[in-house]
Amino acid sequence: MQEQKTPGISPADATGIWFSRARFGLFVHWGHGSRCGWELSWPLVGGMKALRHCQDVPAETYHANARAFAPHAGAARAWIAAAKRCGMQYTVLTAKHHDGFALWPTRASDFSIAATPYRGDLVREFVDATREAGLRVGLYFSLCDWHHPDYPPFTDADRPYRYGMAPRPTEAGWARYVEFLFAQLRELLTDYGRIDLLWFDGGWERTADAWQTRELEAMIRSLQPGIVINDRLPGCGDYDTPEQFVPPEPPGRAWETCLTMNESWAWNPDDADYKSARALVHTLCEVASRGGNLLLNVGPTGDGSLAPEQVERLDAIAGWMAANGESILGTEPALAPWQFYGPTTRRGTRLYLHVLSRPYDSVTVRGLPIRRVRRVIELRSGAVLESSGRCPVIDELFNADPTGQLTIRVPEPVLDPLATVIAVDLD
Ligand code: GLC
Repeated sequence: MQEQKTPGISPADATGIWFSRARFGLFVHWGHGSRCGWELSWPLVGGMKALRHCQDVPAETYHANARAFAPHAGAARAWIAAAKRCGMQYTVLTAKHHDGFALWPTRASDFSIAATPYRGDLVREFVDATREAGLRVGLYFSLCDWHHPDYPPFTDADRPYRYGMAPRPTEAGWARYVEFLFAQLRELLTDYGRIDLLWFDGGWERTADAWQTRELEAMIRSLQPGIVINDRLPGCGDYDTPEQFVPPEPPGRAWETCLTMNESWAWNPDDADYKSARALVHTLCEVASRGGNLLLNVGPTGDGSLAPEQVERLDAIAGWMAANGESILGTEPALAPWQFYGPTTRRGTRLYLHVLSRPYDSVTVRGLPIRRVRRVIELRSGAVLESSGRCPVIDELFNADPTGQLTIRVPEPVLDPLATVIAVDLD
C-alpha cells in the first residue's frame, strides 16, 4: 500500500472546525461478543430488525462471555495504521456499547476489561495509537446500559425489545445510575488526555431530563473545551449522524454518515453482504460533495485482528486515496446537481469532478466561467485531458467572462476502476 500524501486538514479550534472538513474517519465496533462473532449488544435483547444478521443470545449467556475476552495486546495499532493509509482524519471506538461492558478499567463498576483475562486498557491503546498517528480521537459511549443493576438491566423476561418500553428504574436506582454515568464519562474525559469527539448513542430510552443532558454537556465541555459532540445526546450536540444513509439534501449543519462495510457493526463471520470497495469510494465521494464526513466502520475479530474482507477494502480505499485524496480531504462542496452528473468538490480555484459511471466519450460541466479554465487533468495520472468550452454565441462575442459549458474528453485508459477524478483549474 502507498503512503498517504494528501494534504491534512486545518488545525482545530475550539469550535471544532476540523470536524466540518475532516471528511473521512474510522468507526470501530468491538466488544467481548466479537470473540463469538456476535453483533454488539443487540443479541442480548433478541436482535433488531435493521440488523439482518444479528444473533439472539440469552442475556445471561451474553454477559457471561465478557469473562473470556482475551484480545491480543496492541491490536488497535493495525486498525489505526490502516485508517492513516486511507487518509482518515479521526477514529471512534465503542468505549462502551448498550451492553454496558467498558473497554477501559472503569473505577465506577467492575464490569469492564479489568475483569477479563486481558486486564489491559483497550481505550488507552486506541487513544495512544490514534494520537501517535497524528489523527483525532473519538469515543462512542452508550447512554443506555442493559447490564447495570440500577438502569435496570434488560432480562429475557423483557423480550421482545420494544422502543420506549425499557424496564423502569426506581427513583433511587436512577439517581445512582446517573451518578455512575457522569463518573464514567468523567474518567474518559480526564484520564486519556485530549479527546476530540464524543459519539453518544442509546439516548432514545429516556428523556433529555432523565439523562440530565444539560448538566452532562456542561461537564463534558468543561473537561474538554474543544470537544465535538454528536446529536445523540438528546437536546444537545454539534452535528447530525444519518446512519447507513447519505442524506439527499445536506442537513443545515455539520454531519457524518456512519456506514458498515457489510450489514453488521461488529465482526460477524455469517454476514457476507459486503459492499464493494468501489461502492464505498462512491459513498465517500457523495458524502464529501455534500459537505459531510464518512465514518466507515470496521468490526475487529475477538483477538483484535481485522477480517480479510475488511482489510481488502481498506487496502483498496487506501490505494485510491493515495492518488485522489486531495479531492476529498479538507474540500468544500462545489457544483449544483444540474451542473454535472456526479459529485463535485473544490479547494480554492481547483474543482474536482468525481466520475462514478463510465463516460462514452466525454463529460460536460455546465455553468462554468469557460474562459477562465486553465487546465484539466485526470488526477491519478496527471494526464492532461482535452477540453473545449462553449457558451451562447452572443456572449462569445460581447462578454469577456462568459459562463458556459465545458466538454472534457475522457479516454478509456485514464478511467480508474473505483472512481475517476478530473481536476479543473480555474483562474
Ligand atoms: C445504532 C445501534 C448501534 C450502533 C449505532 C451506530 O444506534 O443501536 O448498535 O452502534 O447505531 O450508529
